[in-house]
Amino acid sequence: MTEVKGMKNIMTEIRLEQTKEPKTLPLPEDPLVFGTIFTDHMLEVDYTDGKGWHDARIVPYHNLELDPAAMVFHYGQEMFEGLKAYKTEDGRILLFRPDKNLERANNSNRRLMIPEIPDDIFLEGIQKLVRIDERWIPTKPGTSLYIRPFVIATDPFLGVRPSYTYKFMVILSPVGPYYPEGLDPVKIWIEDEYVRAVRGGIGETKTGGNYVASMAAQIKAHEEGYSQVLWLDGVERKYIEEVGAMNIFFKINGKVVTPVLNGSILPGVTRDACIALCKEWGYTLEERKISVDELEKAARDGSLEEVWGTGTAAVISPVGHLRYEQDVFQIQDGGIGELSQRLYDTVTGIQLGKIEDTHGWTVEVK
Ligand code: COI
Repeated sequence: MTEVKGMKNIMTEIRLEQTKEPKTLPLPEDPLVFGTIFTDHMLEVDYTDGKGWHDARIVPYHNLELDPAAMVFHYGQEMFEGLKAYKTEDGRILLFRPDKNLERANNSNRRLMIPEIPDDIFLEGIQKLVRIDERWIPTKPGTSLYIRPFVIATDPFLGVRPSYTYKFMVILSPVGPYYPEGLDPVKIWIEDEYVRAVRGGIGETKTGGNYVASMAAQIKAHEEGYSQVLWLDGVERKYIEEVGAMNIFFKINGKVVTPVLNGSILPGVTRDACIALCKEWGYTLEERKISVDELEKAARDGSLEEVWGTGTAAVISPVGHLRYEQDVFQIQDGGIGELSQRLYDTVTGIQLGKIEDTHGWTVEVK
């Protein structure tokens, strides 16, 4: 194994094969379109029934060779996560709440009948990979290194059952803002035809199936000039759930309101941070059911003061327009609200090490 500087405390059982052909880095002036550029290395770990997770290795980024009958292709047994690494002005590398991603990954795994990933493989594997590819962490404002851990079912089998073999992988991508709008408010379409998830289903897990379920509505919304879809509950089509790539918050009459986690909503890491910050700042914070009628009424009578989404990729994303059925509501005259801006500045300030992390949310990569 090649010894990597500064990696003494990181698990030594991860084999390292360094690339012989390092790629060319994007230029500082290149736009880092979300999810389009990948770094030099990836983490790969195999699972075999009876043997557990084994053969952890960091290897050059490469194409996979899989049997066409691999179960992930047929029944979608897969889990993914998303987190980010940041470079501070004094050269440290910080991760934001990786323990929450680990916890959510294994919650998803349990629901999807995928074996849980050991803490050290997930946390130390990510840290070691980020350290090896640290030259890829961009430093321009609004950029970061997006980390995508994921597991796929690899058994070549066409019967329906959980796979006996899996691959856990982590890839890295230097990114700019998720939405081309950046911090400019996005336009959101409240979907009344399709639904994303129902309670008892897999809506609270991070798995590809939830995202493919969203695509038809997303295309419909795009064609009408909207960036994203806001989902209603799958039974009554009455209560606000989430946006798919982010959770949603409303400021109504001075109070902050967000849909309660009911089993069909993804428990977002940035959502959790925003709840904590709003409470600390003295806002009344309500996690509860919010009907689309309540929202419509608040938009009409002027008490809907701000709307924003939260997510790892999206960070804090202000919403400037909401469309429901035939009505379009403009929020904050289409501009960014004071609380959304404060949350964005605080969350990114902590992530970049510019604001003191009093919550212990950041983890320094050694
Ligand atoms: C994330 O925010 O990390 C996500 O996984 C959302 C994804 C759709 C980009």
